[in-house]
Amino acid sequence: MSRPISLTQHILTQQRLHPEATGEFSAIMTQIALGGKMIAQDLRQAGLLDILGTTGEVNVQGEEVQKLDQRANETFVQVFESSTLVRTVVSEEMEDPYTVVSAERTGKYAVFFDPLDGSSNIDVNASLGSIFSIHRLSPSPSGNGGASFLKPGAEQVAGGYILFGASTILVYTCGDGVHLFTLNPGIGEFFLSGSNITMPAHGAIYCVNEGNCLKWSNGMKNYIDHLQEIDPATGRPYSLRYTGCLAADVHRVLLKGGLYLYPGEVDKPEGKLRLMYEAAPLTFVIEQAGGIGSTGFERIQTIQPKTPHQRVPLVIGSRDDVELAEKFLKPEMG
Ligand code: AHG
Ligand code: MN
Ligand code: MN
Repeated sequence: MSRPISLTQHILTQQRLHPEATGEFSAIMTQIALGGKMIAQDLRQAGLLDILGTTGEVNVQGEEVQKLDQRANETFVQVFESSTLVRTVVSEEMEDPYTVVSAERTGKYAVFFDPLDGSSNIDVNASLGSIFSIHRLSPSPSGNGGASFLKPGAEQVAGGYILFGASTILVYTCGDGVHLFTLNPGIGEFFLSGSNITMPAHGAIYCVNEGNCLKWSNGMKNYIDHLQEIDPATGRPYSLRYTGCLAADVHRVLLKGGLYLYPGEVDKPEGKLRLMYEAAPLTFVIEQAGGIGSTGFERIQTIQPKTPHQRVPLVIGSRDDVELAEKFLKPEMG
């Protein structure tokens, strides 16, 4: 049996590749992993505690807040509160960016996160995720109201997700490949279970909410029709898989190939998903594994964000599959 490598140990090794980070990166990642372990513990016993169902509130996205959405958000905020490195925290569940008091002077980083991804799965014991993205703040940040923490995905220091499925796993990249860790719940530590993951150039799976098909552009409809055609030479028809949890679907695509799509709709061209804490970190992972993240029209990582909760259409996955989808989605094809 090979020697077990803990997340902590692995991050320290990665850090030697980034001497400029001098321990900072590993400290932030350790806090994120701690938040993930705490949320995993809550999820394991959710039905036994009073943490299922809604809070009765509506979040900044106009969506019903689940008790576990709020609890996961509080968990991550608490772990960052004890950091002197993370100054700005942006979450799907908080309208405004949050400044960590202890890091107001010293913090050099902003963390963007979706505390609980796939909230409609909470009450039915299906897969959930947490998605995170770490950015370095500009040397003299202008303040939380300023735009200094809003940078394109290409400038992320690290990005990844924790997936609460049959096991709890953590997948991250800091630009040196994609690494996967599995939580050993008995001792509360993540161990390396896949390093330098590369994904297939094309796959035979597509993930999309096909219930929305009447709201799609003609280009999108034509692309899905194309995937459903019978052509064994090109592996079609593709199989449809959709969990309702972006992190779970993207993880499937990372390991098996294929693509996930949440396109813009005729009456909602910006789509549903959020750039800073859904599309950009997942694109960082997928691109490090050899795939592509796109809106269908442009690459996710070059978009200059205007607001923390900005939405984008998302087409993400295997290189050949996303490139073909882009050809169908471009307006002249629609
Ligand atoms: P969240 O639970 O963080 O709001 O994210 C839900 C996202 C994503 O996880 C999922 O793929 C998609 O929204 C599901 O949306 P539909 O129900 O519209 O398919
Ligand atoms: Mn989400
Ligand atoms: Mn969420």
